[in-house]
This record gives sequence, structure tokens and C-alpha cells, in this order.
Amino acid sequence: MSIPIYTYDAIIVGAGLAGNAAARELKNEGKNVAVITKLHPLRSHSGAAQGGINAALSSADSIELHEFDTVKGSDYLADQDAVEFMCQKAPETVRWAERMGATFSRKEDGQIAQRPFGGQSSPRACYAKDRIGLTLLQTIYEQAFRLGVKFLDEWYATDLIYKDGKVSGIVAFHLRDTQIAIFNAKSVMFATGGYARAFKISSNAHANTGDGLSIVARHGLPLEDMEFVQFHPSGLSGNGVLISEAARGEGGKLFNSKGERFMERYAPNALELASRDVVSRAIVNEIREGRGVGPRKDAVYLDVTHLGKDLIMQRLPELRDLAITFLGLDMIKEPILISATAHYSMGGIPVDIPGHVRKNNTEFVEGFYAAGECSCVSVHGANRLGANSVLEALLFGRFVGKTMASEIDDIALRPATEDDAKRAIDEINWILNNNGDERVAQLREELQDTMTDHAGAFRTEESLQVAVDKIKELRQRHKNIRVDDKSKVFNTELQEALEFGHMLDYAKFIVESAIARKESRGAHFREDFDKRDDVNFLKHTMGYMDTSGDIKLDYMDVTLGKHELKERTY
Ligand code: FUM
Repeated sequence: MSIPIYTYDAIIVGAGLAGNAAARELKNEGKNVAVITKLHPLRSHSGAAQGGINAALSSADSIELHEFDTVKGSDYLADQDAVEFMCQKAPETVRWAERMGATFSRKEDGQIAQRPFGGQSSPRACYAKDRIGLTLLQTIYEQAFRLGVKFLDEWYATDLIYKDGKVSGIVAFHLRDTQIAIFNAKSVMFATGGYARAFKISSNAHANTGDGLSIVARHGLPLEDMEFVQFHPSGLSGNGVLISEAARGEGGKLFNSKGERFMERYAPNALELASRDVVSRAIVNEIREGRGVGPRKDAVYLDVTHLGKDLIMQRLPELRDLAITFLGLDMIKEPILISATAHYSMGGIPVDIPGHVRKNNTEFVEGFYAAGECSCVSVHGANRLGANSVLEALLFGRFVGKTMASEIDDIALRPATEDDAKRAIDEINWILNNNGDERVAQLREELQDTMTDHAGAFRTEESLQVAVDKIKELRQRHKNIRVDDKSKVFNTELQEALEFGHMLDYAKFIVESAIARKESRGAHFREDFDKRDDVNFLKHTMGYMDTSGDIKLDYMDVTLGKHELKERTY
């Protein structure tokens, strides 16, 4: 079968906020750009963001306070130059989205409405009811589409064309008919999203299988800070579907089985609006100590009934719908059941502020960029503040798109050949022809159970070792998989097998980085090392996978700045 080779100036993989924003900038500068996505752009996970996008807009707030909250929230692991850049550009980014057509909720005086969010000194989350992600995604996608960006929906990216320190395209196949194609380009950007689907209880879309990260890692390129996975305090009990922090921002309270407002014990000042890692651990702890509620006693109550029907319908309508749909509970009338859910990946593909992908601590890969949740710039450090992710995706997506546009003319196109697709073809053929007796769905379930039970909000050397051993076992069993569907048309079994291979790779990074970080910082809480250790661990983890799948860990300095290290209390 001959392999078509399509040529563009730039290829972007992923059509969430970061990918769309970058594509729009490139097209606006007259570049020939295509966006490859395994979904339709409007089904990207950015659309699931609910609560808001941060920007210091009001006179009671300031950019410096936004920086401080972000650095403190990150448990001082964020790179402060990147944080300053993000917080300074946040107001302009929100205004730009508004000009592009995003319909924000408004105050009486017509200003963009802002609500309180966890770990923040001032109401800073600009919102659109409880659907900021969808509002922004629709707006930016429309703008990119209007300018003529080429969208290739339902194309699954399987490999990066990377040789001699340079990237010159990707290999992908069309889900419709499994036709493989090469997309040859001067530059490539990954905006492939997060990876919390490695956990059983997760707020992430089923598509968030971290493909981009493993594709990068399989070429021996590093992944940064993979141990830092955020557990959001309020996932719907049982399935982890997100119930936005907006519910607590608007005044929602948490109660245990004894009717105690337990956050009074964990964060006496900020209460339910402490930083996410603090609230999540408090919830998990209440459940572990036997004060959980619900039929399985694995949840706590989130109560917003005192806010009244009008406010709930005006500001939290989607949340109400979700709780009715999945739990049969109407938050206007009764408390709902929530618990911590794997939500966000602070770690990812290491990049500098303009989005260049790192080859190691000091060198960069030519023609390769990343932005959004798949990347690690690192503005979130060990723990992200709510409403900073939508900001990061939109702001850095735009900025990286502009950077690519300005650098593209200095990059020579290295022509691709059919050989560049060999690895992808071999992997697909192997999956279709391997006639073992292991089922991907079973292996995936075992991985997700293990990650939630042993690499979750509380970790120990022992629990993480269970996860390391399990992943090793699953990697062996993965060699023996079998798919029944051998067809070429929308072969979801093939896709799931590919995705599971990625999950196995990056899960290994998560647990091995976590076992080596013998301290507690932000979302990474080690019960056996329950203090932050700035002497030994104020550093970014850089993991490298070799061809046998073994991971070697190295470290990189954190960029410090004017916000001095302090104990973090709320
Ligand atoms: O709770 C939320 O609305 C989530 C926001 C975020 O993760 O930034």
C-alpha cells in the first residue's frame, strides 16, 4: 500500500484550546497549517472545563497577587519566569477571547463576572455560567475555521518523525479506513491534552490517554514532573465526573457523615477554598477514617442548597444537570455526593516559554513545539490552581503559534519518505495480527485500578512499588494481546490497543518519578515523607525512556524568582 505524503508549513496535533489558538495564529500569519485530531475539535476535552479562566482584572486584584497565588499553589515548584509571563498576559488574553466573541457572564455594571476559586486571594475566575471551556473552545475553533485552518478530524497520530535532533512531521491514520499518511512539515506542535485516564476515578474524557507524551518518550525525549497528577476535590461519586470548584466558589460547603464541616480542621482560613491538593486530601482522609457518606461510604456531601434555586440555575446549571443525570440528586433540593477524582497532569513534555520542546536540560529539538496540558512549561509546578489551565492552554497556545509563525521561515523542510511510517505500520500490524489471549479492556481496568489505589492522593514507597510491579506485569501481558476486530473501518479495538500502549508507558513515568521523589509537595503526597524537602527536591524530574522501556531519571533546576519559599498554609 502506498503511503500518501502531505506537506504543510506546520502540523498541530490536538484540537483543544491550545491547538486551535496556535492554528489560528499561524493561519493569521499566512502559514499553511493543518490540525490533526482523533476527535472532532468541539469534542476536545477543553470543552469540559467548567469553572473559569483566571485573570487579575478587578481593582481589588493584581498581577502580582495572581503570580503569588500560582507560585504558592505550585508548592514553589513552578518556574517563576513562566508564571510571571502567564499572569501578566492573562488580562490581555481574556480581553482577546472576548473580542473573538466569547460570551462571558457579566456583572450588573456590564464588566466580566469573576468568582472566587481555591487558593486565590481575590475572585479571579472569569466565567461563562459553568461552561467556560465550551464557550472558549467554540469561539476559538470558529475563528480558526473562519480563517481557513485545515482540520483533519478522526485522524489518529501514531508517530513523530524525529531524526538527528529535528522533527519534520508526523505519521497518522484515518480512523475511517485505517489509511496511513505522512504529514511532512517544517514544524510540529503537540497539543494533545492530559493523561488522567490512567486512573479509574477520573474527570477526564475517555480520549485523554496521553498518546502525545508516550510518542515523544518513545523517541528518547524527556518527560518532566510526571509524578504530579492533580486530584480534583469534587468528582461525582462513583465515576469522577467533574463538579466544578465553582460550586464551592459560589459558597458550597463540604460535610462528612457526622455533619461536620470538616474543612475547618484542615484549612481553618480558606475552608473549602483551600488549594485543590489540600481539599482533596482532606476528603480522602475523611473517607479513610470512616466518616464517608453514600451507599459505599466513599464520598462526602457537597451542599449548595443554601444558595437557592435562582443562583444555581443562573450560575451552575450544568453541574445540577450532571448530578441529576448520574446520581439522581438535585442540588437545589439536597446535598450531592462527591469525592476526589484524577483531574489534571501538571507534568508533561518539557518546553520553554515560547514552546520549544526540550531534548534535555540545555538543548531543544528543532521544529518541535508543545502547549497546553500535554506540556510542562512549568506554570503549575506541583499543584495547579483552578482556572489556570484554561488560561495556560489559551495563552500559551496563542503564543506558541506566534512563535512558530515567526520561526518557520528559518526552518528547511526535510522531505519525508515512506520509510518514516515504518514504525507506525509495524505497530498497527502487530496489534491486528497478534493472536494472544489477553484483552485490552481487562488490562486497562487493572492499570486504572492500580493507579487509583496505589498512586493516588496518598502514596508510600510500598504502595508505589505495588504500582511499579503491576505495570511491569501488565507490560509483559500486553505482549500477548488479541483484538477480535481485524477490519479497517472505524476499528475502535485497534485504537484502544494503541491508546493502552501509551497509557502503560506514561504510567511507568508517573510511578517511577513518584517513588524517587521522597518528599511531599503539592499533589504528590508521600505518607512516608510527609514534609516538603527543599534541600533535596526543589527540582524538576526529567525522565527518559530507553528502547527496552526502562526509565532513567534526571533532574533540572527550578527557576526561582521574587516569591520566596515559605511554608504553605491556607
Ligand atoms: O473546578 C473546575 O471548574 C475546574 C477548573 C480547572 O481545572 O481549572
